[in-house]
Amino acid sequence: MSSSTRLLSIDPATGETVWEGAPGDVDAAVAKARAALPAWARRPLAERIAYCRSYQEVVRENADEFARLIASETGKPLWETKTEVAAVAAKVDISITAHEERTGTRQGEVQGVHQVIRHKPHGVLAVLGPYNFPAHLPNGHIVPALIAGNTIVFKPSEFTPAVAEYMVQCWEKAGLPEGVLNLVQGAGETGRALAGHADIDGLLFTGSATTGAALHRQFAETPGKILALEMGGNNPLIVWDAQDLEATAALIAQSAYLSAGQRCTCARRLIVEDGKEGPLIDALTAIIDRIVVGEPFDDPQPFMGPVIDNRAADRLEAGYADLVERGAKVIRPLVRPRADRPFLTPALVDVTGVSGIPDEEHFGPLLQLYRVPDFDAAMAVANDTRFGLSAGLMGGDRALYDRFWAESRAGIVNWNRPTNGAASNAPFGGIGLSGNHKPSAYYAADYCAFPVASLEADAVTGTIAVGLKPKV
Ligand code: NAD
Ligand code: SIN
Repeated sequence: MSSSTRLLSIDPATGETVWEGAPGDVDAAVAKARAALPAWARRPLAERIAYCRSYQEVVRENADEFARLIASETGKPLWETKTEVAAVAAKVDISITAHEERTGTRQGEVQGVHQVIRHKPHGVLAVLGPYNFPAHLPNGHIVPALIAGNTIVFKPSEFTPAVAEYMVQCWEKAGLPEGVLNLVQGAGETGRALAGHADIDGLLFTGSATTGAALHRQFAETPGKILALEMGGNNPLIVWDAQDLEATAALIAQSAYLSAGQRCTCARRLIVEDGKEGPLIDALTAIIDRIVVGEPFDDPQPFMGPVIDNRAADRLEAGYADLVERGAKVIRPLVRPRADRPFLTPALVDVTGVSGIPDEEHFGPLLQLYRVPDFDAAMAVANDTRFGLSAGLMGGDRALYDRFWAESRAGIVNWNRPTNGAASNAPFGGIGLSGNHKPSAYYAADYCAFPVASLEADAVTGTIAVGLKPKV
């Protein structure tokens, strides 16, 4: 929650205040990052890596406290935020390997001349983070950017300032030199100011397609600046000839409802063969009815917590009501058990034959079912979206999966696995409205540095062999 003068972060599960403060000073943060850049970029790679290793240790030593803070500020269950903190620490090793493999120095020879390909940091990079993984996702830009030699201005989501502050404190405890990583708290207007700042060299963004498109427009006049956009999806999951219905239903539920549906890779559209879907839907509803929605520290732990705030819950309720008004049949309703808090139950609606369904990302526990006559129609529905982040097939054989893989328009294409839970040691990104072809995770190294190709000789040797007049 924010206003132009004060920022307030609220525990979605309890309504208690987690953090309060004022928006940061963008100019001051960019100036600090600029001042720290030459020394940081000149440091040997091994020293920059050593800082990252110290940070990794600090994160691991404080994993419990860190996970509890993420749970308080996002409402995600503690079991899940523990995995987020583990991913934050693991990112360091992955980024070191990726830096070497994707942007490490390469040497060779071209027509007898020594050739070297090295990479340079862009300079001062802005990082804008989302709320759903308030540590893991900005961290996924910050670690590789620091290894590459950039300095950073980090503006987290206005919903998760405390997590961001904690993460930056981990870097401080690791001894990161002053000015290398600068935190600026704020909402959209602060993000806009940072993105438009003349003295940044680029921006690494994770968030919604609406914001990403606005940033793309903002960067239209500065094509020389790097802009990496990781955005949302309207992800399809086809189930075809599934054998183990219980396991299939479990993976569908994970795909759609993990993190209360607040993952960019969550399945939003379930596509099944018309007439054969009965037993599968029975298995799925049996799981939906057992899903526990609760507070992050409940014991036993819930499967999912609330969505981030009441306005997000209002938007999801409005999206659900719109689908129902258009003719969607409710299989399991979206229920908000407490009017004052953003808990929502997992919903499943059959939208087969309903026209005019908006191609929007419902960032919550709302899954739309499409019944189709054959696999051609299934593929057509799967690809009928402006987004292209993740896509999944469950069931079928290798030949069907090969077809699905070949025809899917998405950056993550899985078989018999959930659409979410992407591996950090692989590239992560999408096409269409899901990204701008600068994938993150393992390929983040690529957008954190630019290549410099050099031909190098110890002495000048050369003649012009053709096209010269005789010497006089
Ligand atoms: P968001 O776009 O609302 O906000 C993301 C960040 O941008 C925040 O820091 C916000 O303050 C800032 N911002 C908002 N408006 C801005 C503007 N006009 N100019 C500059 N900055 C601005 O996204 P969110 O709601 O925090 O996160 C959820 C979204 O993120 C979902 O759409 C989800 O799919 C997407 N997401 C994508 C990935 C991915 O890697 N592809 C991962 C996680 C989440
Ligand atoms: C996300 O980054 O929102 C999703 C990551 C995943 O679970 O695939």
